[in-house]
Amino acid sequence: MILFNLDGDSELLHAKRTMGRDDKNKRADTSPAATDSLSSALDRVVIGNCIEFMDTLPEACVDMVFADPPYNLQLANELHRPNQSKVDAVNDDWDQFESFAAYDHFTRDWLSAARRVLKPDGTLWVIGSYHNIFRVGTVLQDLGYWMLNDIIWRKANPMPNFRGRRFTNAHETLIWCARSKNSKYRFNYESMKALNEDLQMRSDWYLPICSGGERLKIDGRKAHPTQKPESLIYRTIVAATNVGDIVLDPFFGSGTTGAVSKKLGRHYVGIEQEKTYAAIAEKRIAKVRRISSDELLKIEQKREQPRIPFGWLLERGLLKPGQVLMDNRRRHSARIRADGSLSTGDFKGSIHQVGAFVQKAPACNGWQFWFFERGGKLIPIDIFRQKIRAELH
Ligand SMILES: C[S@@+](CC[C@H](N)C(=O)[O-])C[C@H]1O[C@@H](n2cnc3c(N)ncnc32)[C@H](O)[C@@H]1O
Repeated sequence: MILFNLDGDSELLHAKRTMGRDDKNKRADTSPAATDSLSSALDRVVIGNCIEFMDTLPEACVDMVFADPPYNLQLANELHRPNQSKVDAVNDDWDQFESFAAYDHFTRDWLSAARRVLKPDGTLWVIGSYHNIFRVGTVLQDLGYWMLNDIIWRKANPMPNFRGRRFTNAHETLIWCARSKNSKYRFNYESMKALNEDLQMRSDWYLPICSGGERLKIDGRKAHPTQKPESLIYRTIVAATNVGDIVLDPFFGSGTTGAVSKKLGRHYVGIEQEKTYAAIAEKRIAKVRRISSDELLKIEQKREQPRIPFGWLLERGLLKPGQVLMDNRRRHSARIRADGSLSTGDFKGSIHQVGAFVQKAPACNGWQFWFFERGGKLIPIDIFRQKIRAELH
């Protein structure tokens, strides 16, 4: 583990949270020192203040940031269950801020530092609760991040509301955003669909909180008060990165992001200001094994597969000019022309254009819309595209 202990004193770190960042744009650093800083932090836990450490990294060097920042929970009193036992709530020093203004200042600082190190096409995830997520969202937009989704993590087993004065707080929100509006960000659509049994992945995720054997304990007590479930971070990493990408977590805690990144063959940079947590994270990650086969980790993206023009099906004799295609309910039909276009009535165009025309739709994926008939059965034309793709491999 690197002991990148920037000042070694958590009191001092706490004071630094509110320092100004007027000089933040002066640090567009691609110097050898910055590059060294990245290589020495790769797949390590850095002990220190995340803002200061991110400022030592080169510009545009990480593919994804996952951040679980202090929530500023503002818990004034101890919480007790009906049987008077104390609730293990988050009242640690790192979660305390003097005011909303101080929290906003801190948020602006770390999000600016994270944006500088994020690659132009990179994305950032922030998780939070009603205490902080709206403030974080405002800062994100003010800094030029581009919102992609807000994900509701619905907890399968939330903590009850002991006082019975409010609804049970059963979810947290993740904001997913790109570095800028122009980012060509990665979204592994096919992987998300596969993870969800072939249905599009929705923005509400139903996952249990971290408990049982996954919860790290020391002498029977939680090793970290806000350890996130690996399942949650697994989904973000599979959704937005490729094998070998670098994932940075500025609030590493017990190292959940590092553990999942390592398992999935991604690199990580973890920054944590508390030495005890950093040590817990390091020990945890050392036990994780990377999924050994690259084949198992490979991201399948339709867009990355070779483009097959429909005309190739005619050239190869798989379909014939004059043959009729129809949709899966036989409501629409079109005839195949010798040049690989389709015609219906007076209208001619590609499989996509004619598919859109007959449905009066703005667009259509002709590969999925059209079928041909064989032996009384409708067969999707896409099977021929897959056949040709398989031959090309
Ligand atoms: C909400 S917890 C993260 C928990 C983590 N996701 C996990 O699964 O264990 C936030 C962590 O950020 C750390 N932290 C707070 N402010 C920090 C800062 N300025 N720099 C680095 N770490 C910080 C805290 O010590 C705490 O461990």
